[in-house]
Amino acid sequence: MNQQLEETLARYKGERGDLIPLLQEVQTKFGYLPEEAMQGIAKFLRLSESTVYGVCTFYAQFKLTPVGKHTIKICRGTACHVRGISRILNEAEKQLGIKPGETTSDLEYSLETIACFGSCALAPVMVVDETVYGKMTPDKVTKILKGEG
Ligand code: FES
Repeated sequence: MNQQLEETLARYKGERGDLIPLLQEVQTKFGYLPEEAMQGIAKFLRLSESTVYGVCTFYAQFKLTPVGKHTIKICRGTACHVRGISRILNEAEKQLGIKPGETTSDLEYSLETIACFGSCALAPVMVVDETVYGKMTPDKVTKILKGEG
């Protein structure tokens, strides 16, 4: 990782305004922000590690733990709530053995909840990577996770 990080840092001037773009680039490269990378960025920009860490935790876009190959997003908007999204979330949690914000130990899936997707007519809605699945049922969760959806 060090070499990849150094190659990335080499393209920046080391100014404070580089912090967000650098964090974004490192996250794109590694899929999340490893602690070692945050320390390297702090040193490079002459900022304290707690400042860098504070920025990373402030912005939801930054992930401090590895994310899975696939991301499952469960809508927690009103229409989905009314149409029983909690059963879908429970089923996904049960199948994957994780809670929202977590990733399976094989790094295959991350689970997230998210505000309205804007597909309320399809409620309850679950999105896997870029694919939107509407009118979800617990059985459909099983099928989708088995790759039969
Ligand atoms: S509330 Fe779920 S898509 Fe709008």
